[in-house]
Amino acid sequence: MNVIYPGSFDPVTYGHIDIIDRCAKQFDRVIVSVLNNTAKNYMFTIEERMDLLKKVLDKYENVEVDSFNGLLVDYANKKNCPLIVRGLRAVSDFEYEMQMAHVNKKLQENIETIYLVSREKFSYLSSSIVKEVAMYGGDISCFVPKEVEKALIEKINGGEK
Ligand code: COA
Repeated sequence: MNVIYPGSFDPVTYGHIDIIDRCAKQFDRVIVSVLNNTAKNYMFTIEERMDLLKKVLDKYENVEVDSFNGLLVDYANKKNCPLIVRGLRAVSDFEYEMQMAHVNKKLQENIETIYLVSREKFSYLSSSIVKEVAMYGGDISCFVPKEVEKALIEKINGGEK
């Protein structure tokens, strides 16, 4: 059985990697799908977000990194994979996740969304928080792998290494 793990991943953090790692152990294939939403202001381009994911997920043979735009249900159809996984970090995630799951099911009846509860140590983590800490020069090594840390610092320094 295959599963799609969709998100913005701007950038990927240890919280996302934990969900992917656990899925890779339970499913035949995990499709990590990066949303390319032109209306959203990302720090990293779609290519950069995918490239970072590919680097940090290199060791997983059953994990694929892909991108999509438009509706998630259309993408899931195209991939022939009606199962979506999302992480739940806190109760505050629940309302938004419920709304998305209901909308997706309304749009396409055979879509199923399953949830993995984030590990406690990652329950406070978000890409924005990591970017904010990095912007103020804080240590982000416990939040993201070194490839992501390097890319973030370069981005903040305007491309200078
Ligand atoms: N660990 C750490 N952080 C996590 C996390 C985890 N397990 N799970 C989520 N997050 C964080 C992300 O880093 C992100 O942080 P940020 O807001 O600071 O950038 C935040 O939670 C939101 O996560 P993300 O999973 O990227 O959600 P999203 O809202 O950007 O995208 C999609 C969710 C892609 C599934 C959804 O927007 C979508 O399906 N879009 C396609 C259009 C569509 O079909 N719409 C109809 C359905 S409603």
